[in-house]
Amino acid sequence: MMEEEASIRGRVREIVAARPGRGRTELLEVLHEVQKAFQSVPRAAAEEIEREMGVPVTDTYGVVTFYDLLTDKPTGRTVLRVCEDVTCHLKGSENLIAAAERAIGPEGQPTADGAISWTRCACLGLCDKAPAAQLGEQPLAPCTAADVAKAGERNG
Ligand code: FES
Repeated sequence: MMEEEASIRGRVREIVAARPGRGRTELLEVLHEVQKAFQSVPRAAAEEIEREMGVPVTDTYGVVTFYDLLTDKPTGRTVLRVCEDVTCHLKGSENLIAAAERAIGPEGQPTADGAISWTRCACLGLCDKAPAAQLGEQPLAPCTAADVAKAGERNG
């Protein structure tokens, strides 16, 4: 555990050092890179950001909880996001959510091998092709229950 924490802190120092500004304006970019590296923003990362950038841990978690793409909970290496906003809801996002539960498991819980997890999310900006989802960085729109099942198989 200590080793893992040391490696998180070391990686965060590298990420911060690579950003020229180092101020609060860099925080979102740094958090995206931390999320990409660890599939979440762990506590040790937030503490290291405070040390390196002077941004208090509470402010970092304020940002993490505000943005859908960031999380402090462990996720799968790939995250399936299923939009449940108004347009997608009207177009049957509940079917996608049920398919995700069947194919991957409970929301927010990575599969045993850590390959994938899924989460509901707000509008992905793909309303014209609703219902929409996003697998990692890849948009799935319109998305079907079969697409969700395939994502679970491919990544599980
Ligand atoms: S409401 Fe789902 S993509 Fe906009």
